[in-house]
Amino acid sequence: MTVSSPVLFVLHSPTTDHPAADPVRTDALAPILRVDDLGVTRGDGIFETINAVDGYPQALDAHLARFELSASMLELPAPAVETWRRAALAALDAHPRVPELLLKLVMTRGVEGGDRCTGWVVAFPNTDFSRQRTEGIDLVTLDRAYPADVMTAAPWLLQGAKTISYAMNMAALRYARACGADDAVFVSTEGVVLEGPNSTLVAKFGDRLVTPPTDLGILAGTSQARLFRWAQERGLSTSYERFKVDDLDGADTLWVCSSGRLAVPVRTLDGTPRTWDADLHAAALTHLRTARDQRGRMAARRTDLPRDGYPAASWQDVTPDDRVDGQ
Ligand SMILES: Cc1ncc(COP(=O)(O)O)c(C=O)c1O
Repeated sequence: MTVSSPVLFVLHSPTTDHPAADPVRTDALAPILRVDDLGVTRGDGIFETINAVDGYPQALDAHLARFELSASMLELPAPAVETWRRAALAALDAHPRVPELLLKLVMTRGVEGGDRCTGWVVAFPNTDFSRQRTEGIDLVTLDRAYPADVMTAAPWLLQGAKTISYAMNMAALRYARACGADDAVFVSTEGVVLEGPNSTLVAKFGDRLVTPPTDLGILAGTSQARLFRWAQERGLSTSYERFKVDDLDGADTLWVCSSGRLAVPVRTLDGTPRTWDADLHAAALTHLRTARDQRGRMAARRTDLPRDGYPAASWQDVTPDDRVDGQ
């Protein structure tokens, strides 16, 4: 028996070192992973989470480029990007229309001793973040316990790759919540601000937006990049700079940015209340929700992968119980 949400496509040829093959729609509730898959036994793999707002995937090219970069950092075979794109669009197309849909692309090193990676795309409704987006969140700083030069000092830590080893990130979020906050931002041993467990921090100082540079061993955020492009079009300046927590005292707005949440303002940092530029935030949020890139526009059209055997999707098919919280 199949269900209309989540929607799953499996890639039997996820990398370019094997002949191309179409992604195959598979029952999302059927077991598809082997117990000796290195993604399961070692957390050895990569992922991306893409938000599709009103049927338009956001920053799809940027996510696919980061997927390729993560693969190369883990010395995995190169992802067959066009197959991943087709799988993502097919999953989007096959899912009932919801205001925001997450597309999760996962590629593991495959089964122990095997000769190919395991890959799949799953589509499921995004959590409703409207409250966080309008009311802001409480943020705490947490020690990441590595130095600012971690990428060169210890490249095997894979900082800057989006790996599926997120147990530490989830533990940090639980710790933040146990402290009464909603989220965390990491700092290096020198006190340099890094990134959140699943987000990028952006600070606004007057007409300048600043975010930490990726040479600190942090992910290049696609949402932060979209925010920066929009800010530049409005005549604001943007830069990648190192700063410490105390430097944030001078910021008039702090945002936590991620594909699922887009941009949420910070209302307290380590318990200290903060304000934000409400008009600018509202405009930024509208832009982040509604801006479509050309690829997204094309993606919103029907894809050519088969839908056979699966029930026709409709809005009503998705109940809150179907929702999966998982950026
Ligand atoms: C560690 C980390 N940094 C930053 C981000 C934000 O990236 P994006 O805006 O592309 O979702 C994420 C997203 O999940 C993340 O996991």
